[in-house]
Amino acid sequence: MCGIVGYIGHRQAYPVVVKGLSRLEYRGYDSAGIALFENGTIHLCKTKGKVSDLENKSGKIKESQATLGIGHTRWATHGVPNDVNSHPHLSNSGQLALIHNGIIENYDAIKTELKSRGYVFHSDTDTEVLVNLIEEVKKKEGVKLGKAVQLALQEVVGAYAIAVFDLEKPDEIVVAKLGSPLAIGIGEGEFFVASDASPFIEYTTDALYLEDHQMAILKVGKKIKLRSIKDDLPTTPHILALQLSLDQIEKGGYEHFMLKEIYEQPKAIQDTYRGRLRPEDGLIKMAGIDAHLDRFLKANRIVIVACGTSWHAGLVAEYIFEELARIPVEVEYASEFRYRNPIIGPNDIVIAISQSGETADTLAAIGLAKEKGAFVFGVCNVAGSSIARATDAGAYTHAGPEIGVASTKAFTTQITVLSLMALKLAKEKGVLSTTDFHTYLNALAQIPAQVALALEADAAILEIARIYKDATNCLYLGRGFNFPVALEGALKLKEISYIHAEGYPAAEMKHGPIALIDEQMPVIVIATKRGHYEKVVSNIQEIKSRSGKIIAIVTKGDVTVRELADHVIEVPETFDWLSPLVTTLPLQLLSYHIAVLRDCNVDQPRNLAKSVTVE
Ligand code: AGP
Repeated sequence: MCGIVGYIGHRQAYPVVVKGLSRLEYRGYDSAGIALFENGTIHLCKTKGKVSDLENKSGKIKESQATLGIGHTRWATHGVPNDVNSHPHLSNSGQLALIHNGIIENYDAIKTELKSRGYVFHSDTDTEVLVNLIEEVKKKEGVKLGKAVQLALQEVVGAYAIAVFDLEKPDEIVVAKLGSPLAIGIGEGEFFVASDASPFIEYTTDALYLEDHQMAILKVGKKIKLRSIKDDLPTTPHILALQLSLDQIEKGGYEHFMLKEIYEQPKAIQDTYRGRLRPEDGLIKMAGIDAHLDRFLKANRIVIVACGTSWHAGLVAEYIFEELARIPVEVEYASEFRYRNPIIGPNDIVIAISQSGETADTLAAIGLAKEKGAFVFGVCNVAGSSIARATDAGAYTHAGPEIGVASTKAFTTQITVLSLMALKLAKEKGVLSTTDFHTYLNALAQIPAQVALALEADAAILEIARIYKDATNCLYLGRGFNFPVALEGALKLKEISYIHAEGYPAAEMKHGPIALIDEQMPVIVIATKRGHYEKVVSNIQEIKSRSGKIIAIVTKGDVTVRELADHVIEVPETFDWLSPLVTTLPLQLLSYHIAVLRDCNVDQPRNLAKSVTVE
C-alpha cells in the first residue's frame, strides 16, 4: 500500500505535495519521491527512506515555483526500496512522470513487449512499465495523454491508483483508479489528488472518490472531467463535503489502526493472492518456490523460526504442511533456536516468518541456520527489510503497513502465503489429487469473502466484550489447526487489554487447567464443524459442568454448541485447514473491544514495540 499525492493550481506545489506525503507515511514509508513541472522541465527527486529524507535531498527544488507536482511514499511490492525504484517514474522520453499505488500483475509480459520495441528500464518496478506503456500508446495512436492513459489501462491487469502528467500538457494531471483508493480535492482554481483526503483536507473539504474503472482529467480553470476507462464515456462526478478530521482520515474513519487493519484483512488476503492464486488456470505461481522447487521437494524437513504472532502462524503452517504436503515440520521460537545448538544442515529448509522483517531473534536464528548450511526462506511483510535481505529466497505478504502493535492482518496473510506454499508443494509432490487441488484452489479464492462475512459478527462481539471486560483471567481452547489460533487469541487479549489469558489444546484441559474453571473464568472455545467437533463439544460440556462461562466460535448454523455455550459467534464454513483464516477474526475483535472498553492504548500497548529489534 503506497501513498500518492498530486497538486495542480495556483499554489507552490512543493510544500503542498511534501506535506501531503508526510500525512500518508502511515501507508508506506520505505522510500519517497516528488516530480515538479516548471517551465517545460521536470524537477525530479526521489530517495530510499522517509519523507524527511526526501526533504533533506530536495535541495534547490524546494524553491521551485512549479504549481504542478506529484509525489509518492512507497511500500515496496516489486523491487526493493532504493532510490531508483522509488516513484515518480519517468517514461523513456523523459516526457511523462507517473506515480502509482497498486500492483500490475501482467507487468512482465508488457515489459518484454516494450523492450522488443526498444524501451529500456532502469528500475525493477511494475510502475516504470506502466509509464512507458502509456508513452508507447500515445506515440503509436497519436493521441493525447488522457486518451493514451485510457487505452493503456485497458491492457493492464492488476490494481492501480495513478497520477501522471505530460510535458506537452503543462496544465493538466490525469488520474485513474482500479482497486486502490484515489481521492480528488476540489478547490478554487486548484485540484488535489491523494490516496485519502488527509493531504488536502486543510485546503478544501470538497472531494470526490474515484470509483473502480474511472479516470479523470484535472485541468486548471476547467470543471473536472470524469470518464470510464472501459469505454471513455463521461461519468457524473459526485462531490462530497467531507466532515472527517485528519486523524479519522489516516485511520480510514476507524477509531484505531488496529480496527482498520482487522477490517483490511479481506483486501490484504486478496492482495497476497494477487499474481499467485490462479484457480482459473489450476495453478499457484510463486517465484520464490519455483526457483528452488527441487530443494523443497527433496528437503528432509522444514524448520520454522519466528516470534509472537508470527510463531503462531508457523504453528498453523506446521499442521497445514504436514496435512497437505506430507513434509515434516518443526516450529521453533527464534529466541530459543538461536541459543541452542540445533541439529540442522543442508537438507533442511528453514522458513523465517516476520511481519516487520526486523525482529532481532528471528534475524539471529536465520544467521545460525545459514551457518549450519540450511536453505532459508523468508515470509515477510516489508520488502527490503533485514530479514527479507538475509534469506536465500522468500514470498512477501502484501498486507500493507501494519501500524497497530498487535499483529492482525499480518497473521492472516502469513497463513495465506504458507497455505499457498503447502498446497503448491503438495501438488508438485503428487501427494494431492488434481481434483482436491482444484477444490482447494477454489476454497482459497472464497476466503476473502468469508473473512468479510466473519467480520459481520462485530456488533455481537462488542456485546460479549461488555460482559467480560473486567475478567482477570481467560482461557482459549482449540484443537488441530485451531490450537495455534487459541494461542493467538490469548496473545491478542493479553497484549492490548492486559488481562491474563492462556491458550491450550482443548484436550489438554483434563491434564490440569480444568482445575481453573469456575464461574469467574471465561473460556473461549473454537468449535468449528470440521475440526474434531464432537471432541470439542465434550470439552465444552466438561467446562459447563464446572460453571465455566463459554464463548464458542462456531460454524454458521451450528445448533448443538448453541445449546451449551453462554455465547456463540458464527464464522462461515470452510475446510478445517483453512478455518484459522476465519476463526481468528472474532478473537481479534473480542480482544479489541475489551481493550477499548478498558480504556487501554490499543494501538500502542504499554511495554510493547511494533518491531522488537533488540534481544
Ligand atoms: C503480536 O501481536 C506482537 N506484536 C508480537 O508478538 C509480534 O508478532 C512479534 O514481535 C514478531 O514480530 P515480527 O512478526 O515483526 O517478527
